[in-house]
Amino acid sequence: MVILETTHLTRTVDEKTLVNDISIQVERGETLSIVGPSGAGKSSFLRLLNRLDEPTSGTVLLDGADYKTLPSGELRRRVGMVLQSPYLFPGTVAENLRFGPRQHGKTLPEDRLRHLLRQVGLESYAERDIARLSGGEAQRVSLARTLANSPEVLLLDEPTSALDRTAEAEVESLLGEIIAAEGLTCLIITHNPEQAVRLSRRSMLLEAGKLVKIGPVEEVVHA
Ligand SMILES: Nc1ncnc2c1ncn2[C@@H]1O[C@H](COP(=O)(O)OP(=O)(O)OP(=O)(O)O)[C@@H](O)[C@H]1O
Ligand SMILES: [Mg+2]
Repeated sequence: MVILETTHLTRTVDEKTLVNDISIQVERGETLSIVGPSGAGKSSFLRLLNRLDEPTSGTVLLDGADYKTLPSGELRRRVGMVLQSPYLFPGTVAENLRFGPRQHGKTLPEDRLRHLLRQVGLESYAERDIARLSGGEAQRVSLARTLANSPEVLLLDEPTSALDRTAEAEVESLLGEIIAAEGLTCLIITHNPEQAVRLSRRSMLLEAGKLVKIGPVEEVVHA
């Protein structure tokens, strides 16, 4: 079943077309990787998917509904995003995880908080100040923070590329486990072909804003 679909998705800024007429479908529970050279429009494409940027034409269907009909708060909750650099605010790990649900008028249950921290391998970190986290730990908290909103689709923009090798391997393997355990639908941008192969079965290649290829990951990344 298709959960996310883009139809002729396009974004033009100052006569430059960053995302050019992209139509794809993503199945529920699928991980799709997004690859392509620097400046290809990968981040621009991902940012359109939760309406951080506005398409100039085309749209996105979330579970069959045009996303322009959804309140932006609901859309951002349902389509979560994790960036290259951890996105946290000053305070404790627990405070960061509770933030999203609270914005939607909910309280993150204590057992759910424990579960999320366990999932990212930071069980004992609830009261830790985020200023005292390593880069890899901070990125894991960032991931847990996004998961605390129970997103239906998870967008990941090079989530491991700012980390050293050890932390990169750690975060990647946690990510793989969580995606499988939760049956999450993911779109992940990566510069690392091996990471694309490990995390996704299908991949899309962007060049100069255009979709050049979409298909089995091995065929796309080793083309
Ligand atoms: N807000 C903006 N206004 C105008 N041009 C932009 C804007 N954001 C990005 N661009 C340009 O759009 C093109 C695509 O950028 P984008 O960041 O999407 O590429 P990318 O594939 O994610 O690259 P990288 O692999 O380096 O992250 C680039 O030429 C970039 O300079
Ligand atoms: Mg980018």
